[in-house]
Amino acid sequence: MPGRVIPVSKRMPLIVAHRGSSQDLPEHTLNAYRRAIDEGADVLECDVRLTADSHLVCVHDRRINRTSNGTGLVSTLELATLEGLDFGSWKQANDGQVEMPVADRERDKLLTLHRLIEMVIGCGREVGLVIETKHPTRYAGQVERELAKVLNEFGLNRAYQPGLPYVRLMSFSQLAIARMRQLCPKVPLVYLMEDSVPLRFRDGSLPKGAKIAGLDKEIIRRWPKTVQKQHDRGHQVYVFPVDDQADIDRCLDLGVDAIISNRPAFVRHHVFGKE
Ligand code: G3P
Ligand code: CA
Repeated sequence: MPGRVIPVSKRMPLIVAHRGSSQDLPEHTLNAYRRAIDEGADVLECDVRLTADSHLVCVHDRRINRTSNGTGLVSTLELATLEGLDFGSWKQANDGQVEMPVADRERDKLLTLHRLIEMVIGCGREVGLVIETKHPTRYAGQVERELAKVLNEFGLNRAYQPGLPYVRLMSFSQLAIARMRQLCPKVPLVYLMEDSVPLRFRDGSLPKGAKIAGLDKEIIRRWPKTVQKQHDRGHQVYVFPVDDQADIDRCLDLGVDAIISNRPAFVRHHVFGKE
């Protein structure tokens, strides 16, 4: 599917695939991200954690129990151990599907941030990446330091360059945002909020360095004016996770800048219709 240029004046939201096309395929697998690209997602979202031997891997939970056939903390396991596990079958079992052939199982392996970036760079069209560092973790600031190193390796720790993925970094942790600002001053930062907007940011401000508010959909359901307050300050607004029509419509009415969804094809269809 060819890339799509969105005129800013139309305020059409970017479609961000949350952990890939993760309603249909196991989250954070190469399969889920390739599907999201095929479905026309503009941007891919991923969570990153550090392994015991300092590799950044795409895993949401502290433990691997929910999304693999192994157990334990990502932070205490080495990459080689994690790569020997199956990060796909849990989803087929949950969804009541039949077992997939061995060739497909290969693609349900643990995904490293390196591999994800390589795939995005080689995918044939411009696709963005929003990378979330997960905290708290025993490695604290080492996560952002390793992330900056990986971005440097790919020439992505800089302002947007046409032809390369447009990267944004994000976190719920203000400390992580402060570290990202130091380590990656040219990369746009998203400050994530759930439950409610902290008192000090209710005037539409954000932690220093962040120019994008990442809001849980519950926040815009309960306090829709939050979006305008952020826009009045020149900030963008991303909303997550948005998986049904009513929430998509709310996002469109409020003019949010990005819709983060586990169902990128559904959102695309609802926002743009059949193309
Ligand atoms: O895109 C933001 C969103 O991913 C934050 O929540 O728990 O899904 O990482 P979570
Ligand atoms: Ca996330």
